[in-house]
Amino acid sequence: MRKYKIAVIPGDGVGPEVIREGVKVLRAAADVVGGVEFDFVEFPYGAEHYLRTKELIPEEALRELSQMDAVYLGALGDPRVPTGILEQGILLRLRFYFDQYVNLRPVKLYPGVPCPLVGKGPEHVNFFVVRENTEDFYVALGGRAWGKSKAELDLIRSLYEAKFNLDIDVDRDEIAYQLGVISRRGTERVIRYSFELARRKGKKRVTSVDKANVLTNVYGLWREVFEAVAKDYPEIETELAFVDAITMWFVKNPEWYQVVVTPNMFGDIITDLGAMIQGGLGLAPGGNINPDGVSMFEPIHGSAPKHAGKNVANPIATILAGQMMLEELGEQSLADVIEAAVVKVLQEGKVRTYDLGGKSSTSEVGDEVVRKVEQVVAQH
Ligand code: IPM
Ligand code: MN
Repeated sequence: MRKYKIAVIPGDGVGPEVIREGVKVLRAAADVVGGVEFDFVEFPYGAEHYLRTKELIPEEALRELSQMDAVYLGALGDPRVPTGILEQGILLRLRFYFDQYVNLRPVKLYPGVPCPLVGKGPEHVNFFVVRENTEDFYVALGGRAWGKSKAELDLIRSLYEAKFNLDIDVDRDEIAYQLGVISRRGTERVIRYSFELARRKGKKRVTSVDKANVLTNVYGLWREVFEAVAKDYPEIETELAFVDAITMWFVKNPEWYQVVVTPNMFGDIITDLGAMIQGGLGLAPGGNINPDGVSMFEPIHGSAPKHAGKNVANPIATILAGQMMLEELGEQSLADVIEAAVVKVLQEGKVRTYDLGGKSSTSEVGDEVVRKVEQVVAQH
């Protein structure tokens, strides 16, 4: 028996509802296929816990999580908590603490899922976005106002005075700045991961995303590293694209893309677009991966507070995040069973949530995936 200890953080909003279905499907797949046992350990972190205790995620919990095989996360974010607190204090804290430097987001349109792009089907939308997950504008370096140090004040004064040709009024002329920082090592490891992924998945092209025409320092380094790493993979075609252009090409020619590697913030933005062309946020999973450590899997959608507690959210993204978790744990055949079951449910189209034009509830979709898991296994 292969045993896995999985930390479950249901989180906020629709998180608990979708994670319940994800756990249900993982349990069912393990039972039906056999050979695998999951020990799910639930953690309470999120808005409720924070409002009650003022605690986000304590060091002690992080140490406990580091003993687990993986983390399965619902969603974070709640209108009662100022924006950024839970996101930074829990989600980004976990990504950084476990150095989950790859954010892997497959963009795959399944048969039977409506695509908003006219004339595009599953054969046109099937690629991976590899988003760097620990650097760039996510390093939380920046400030508001000014004059904290003389150097800062001098810099700002010279910029500001040149721009407006006036003396600055220290009380009124507030400024804010945020730094994007990338490292050669941090860039190299994620780009290398994207080439290795291409090899593993039989993909023939890796596209690098940046904005090196304007942000010349950070993305100049990014490009340099991309071109150097590419030399180790002569059989894989490479391409450099600007982020603005890629948003256009994802819509116009999604079939061109196979593996796309991107700095953190551009990756955040283009994967919401990616989610739409694969049929919506309800279908898009993601993995925060440290290939040598503890990885964390989640739907890429947020907590959707207005749908919370109504049993209407689409659990497929979370179920597919569970499938990605199995793949990362080395349980490929179990992962394949879950994907095949999801494909059957989507293809039949009888049981689907409102976002796909259906009337089914969150738990009905989970139950239907479980039934299909049983069918898929029985047929083999
Ligand atoms: C995502 C989310 C997060 C991010 C937020 C909630 C901090 O948008 O996972 O894409 O920006 O990475
Ligand atoms: Mn996002």
